[in-house]
Amino acid sequence: MTPDLDTIVNLAKKRGFVFPSSEIYGGLRSAYDYGPLGVELLRNVKDEWWRTMVRERDDVVGIDSAVIQAPQVWVASGHVASFSDPLVECQVCHNRFRPDKLDDANQCPVCGSRDSFTEPKEFHLMFRTNMGPVEADENTVYLRPETAQGIFINFENVQRTARKRLPFGIAQIGKSFRNEITPEKFIFRTREFEQMEMEYFCRPDESDRWFDYWVEERKNWYLDLGIREENLQFREHDGDELSHYSTRTYDVDYQFPWGWDELEGIAHRTDFDLKAHSEYSGQDLSYFDPETDERFVPHVVEPAAGANRTALAFLLDAYHVEEVRGEERVVLKLDRRLAPIKVAVLPLSKKDEIMKVVEEVADQLRPHWAIEVDVTQSIGRRYRRQDEIGTPYAVTVDFETLDDIEVTVRDRDTMGQDRIPISGLVDHLTERLPI
Ligand code: GAP
Repeated sequence: MTPDLDTIVNLAKKRGFVFPSSEIYGGLRSAYDYGPLGVELLRNVKDEWWRTMVRERDDVVGIDSAVIQAPQVWVASGHVASFSDPLVECQVCHNRFRPDKLDDANQCPVCGSRDSFTEPKEFHLMFRTNMGPVEADENTVYLRPETAQGIFINFENVQRTARKRLPFGIAQIGKSFRNEITPEKFIFRTREFEQMEMEYFCRPDESDRWFDYWVEERKNWYLDLGIREENLQFREHDGDELSHYSTRTYDVDYQFPWGWDELEGIAHRTDFDLKAHSEYSGQDLSYFDPETDERFVPHVVEPAAGANRTALAFLLDAYHVEEVRGEERVVLKLDRRLAPIKVAVLPLSKKDEIMKVVEEVADQLRPHWAIEVDVTQSIGRRYRRQDEIGTPYAVTVDFETLDDIEVTVRDRDTMGQDRIPISGLVDHLTERLPI
């Protein structure tokens, strides 16, 4: 069963995954900072995406483009004209809302007034700022609302320098910014977030086949990393739901505590973006196919996921409560590749001779994995903490270790314990953990 959101918010704060941002100043609503465990989890999510989408493939390369780009990029992409949400304002308390997010279309959820809303007005979602010291319209620039456009404007640069032929993809992971009217649900919808996007360029007559291929690949990615199949759904958009650039889109939805909601969109973007950037920049972004002697503008299939939402889904999916010998055990059964700490080293005593061995063991493990040496509290409490943060293995150093030069290795999921010689510890763990 999926836990409720508060359970995960509390665990995240208590254990150091995610903190409300600017907390000592009273907080900045909807902004979050990732603590020591959260930063590892988020990085592991992004690393897994990068490994499978870029490193292990011959047909995809990476890029890291600027957050602030020429303002014309956002004119060509259609964002300046149409990246907005409708907004109503309560004329009594002056709070603003998205009409489609209101429980009651005629009642203000803050002050309770009825029939106090203005007519909806379009509210632009891009963050604007000024480039340079002078605040003037001609110096207006935007923080990117998606990483995708940084890929399109570099299509020719990358294709030429990486010497790629169609079909091939360009991937990017990075921060995006949207001035969301209703940021909500912890790290699910925030104004600053990270995207993992890949634009796959292909021949127009092959684009439907590649679309189906990427839907399948992305499904396998989530399942392989442990998301339960019953919590994942692929939903095709109806015609009236499609974005201005797309002819087909699937939402990858996860069963969040509040219902099905989007983790990723997989869109058939046709040749919309390359054509638009060719037109606005005056640069030819077509492709010459040496095999068929044809010149054309490639079509694009785009899997676009949010790293933060995906991390939240992995946390929710991994959360288990079990009964062990009449006591409740909370355990995050995160896939080993995602677990923030892979091995905990736990001394049974703080005595010098034990701590010396602990340091030796830790030094052996550190080059391979993210580890933690935990010396505080009783061993039972330390196991519970490691279970709760999803650490797959705990290595205990005890007084017997001083005689037999062996340690106890405890498995998070089975709670089984093996006695392993210190000289064989790295090999033992290597068989069980990704390096
Ligand atoms: N380039 C296409 C694009 O940006 P999108 O559906 O608007 O498509 C892709 O965004 C993904 O980015 C979403 O599926 C979601 O996971 C993530 N995302 C979008 N807005 C977000 C927000 N305000 N907070 C957190 N993640 C967000």
